[in-house]
Amino acid sequence: MGNCCGKPAKCAHASSIGGFSAVANSHSDPKKDSASSSQKLPSESLTTSFVPPKPDASVSSNLKSFNFNDLKNATKNFRTDSLLGEGGFGCVFKGWIDENTLAPTKPGIGIGVAIKKLKGESLQGHKEWLAEVNYLGQLRHENLVKLIGYCAESDNRLLVYEYMQKGSLENHLFRKCVQPISWATRMSIAIGVARGLTFLHSLDTNVIYRDLKASNILLDSDYNARLSDFGLARDGPTGDNTHVSTKVVGTQGYAAPEYVATGRLTPKSDVYSFGVVLLELLSGKRALDEEGPGFAEETLVDWAKPFLSDSRRVLRIMDTRLGGQYSKKGAQAAAELALQCLHTDPKNRPSMTDALRALENLPTTNVMRTSPHAKLSQHGTKHMSSPHNHKARAATVN
Ligand SMILES: Nc1ncnc2c1ncn2[C@@H]1O[C@H](COP(=O)(O)OP(=O)(O)OP(=O)(O)O)[C@@H](O)[C@H]1O
Ligand SMILES: [Mg+2]
Repeated sequence: MGNCCGKPAKCAHASSIGGFSAVANSHSDPKKDSASSSQKLPSESLTTSFVPPKPDASVSSNLKSFNFNDLKNATKNFRTDSLLGEGGFGCVFKGWIDENTLAPTKPGIGIGVAIKKLKGESLQGHKEWLAEVNYLGQLRHENLVKLIGYCAESDNRLLVYEYMQKGSLENHLFRKCVQPISWATRMSIAIGVARGLTFLHSLDTNVIYRDLKASNILLDSDYNARLSDFGLARDGPTGDNTHVSTKVVGTQGYAAPEYVATGRLTPKSDVYSFGVVLLELLSGKRALDEEGPGFAEETLVDWAKPFLSDSRRVLRIMDTRLGGQYSKKGAQAAAELALQCLHTDPKNRPSMTDALRALENLPTTNVMRTSPHAKLSQHGTKHMSSPHNHKARAATVN
């Protein structure tokens, strides 16, 4: 699994831009709102009169409805040694259930599951829980994480997923104590993510994922990528409509600039976020990095763009932890694709279908394919020299 050095992943990091409208941006303090991904708009606090919505009946019939007590038993009463991580929604625990009856079992018996428990009581949290149940209850694809069931008992809201043994891509790319993943594995993850998004965008009611980021890309035991977290997903535009107008939600550093500025959402917003993830896979740097001394306002995209558009300097963005073990031509083509996905004009970005095709046709010469992990270069985990150090501030827009 993806937890660093056997410890639970660090809790409570700033991430999502939850429930912050583009209009609200103009009269809110983004820094204040960025403090926590779980921060709720005052108007969305759960009041005593709030009746939590229920999952769609046709959807919930595909899913197991768990009792709260069963999930307590499956996770040793949500004990901290079962904690896998925490996001804006709440904590994620490892649990065990019987493969056939789905009843809670003792640790190590049956199948492992990841149980996400909504913290606090907010309308936004309930909405995300419901969106996740409704989307993942209906959608099945090898690059989407499988939702097994849910619990909606009094105010408790939980989700039960298949357990993804290698944890999140975020853990593998950015945690210092985790062995770096190889070029071949990185590109196969990019292809898996592109397949997942292509699937969503090709549905009759094209689904916009809206929160693509390294922490939402989970990896199975063979490093196959699966998209998780459909709490912010939205049906895309239909008919003659070019976009859907929404609140700006998502994650700063990954969200498309035109979407953040206008609230106009299109499938090309996902393509932009995909470009950011591709850049993270190439560079081993975070979209926004709050670690390290001092913060810079610069994002990974701002830092990388001058390199991406200069064929002689493009390989300077590459993660030194790859130890040079990658196809030069493949890296150049992937960097070119990232640049196209990051185009400021969404119309000039490729569709996910085209991006997937480009990735599947990447030149693969000189790639070491023997192990999912590249050897550490002599320079260890130090990043390649750059015109200016990339240190960016991680913060939520909303
Ligand atoms: N199905 C799963 N299998 C294994 N680990 C999981 C699973 N789902 C989540 N995790 C772990 O729990 C962590 C927290 O996940 P969660 O989706 O709650 O938050 P996040 O993605 O880090 O942030 P955000 O709330 O902004 O989406 C993940 O990074 C991952 O390490
Ligand atoms: Mg997540």
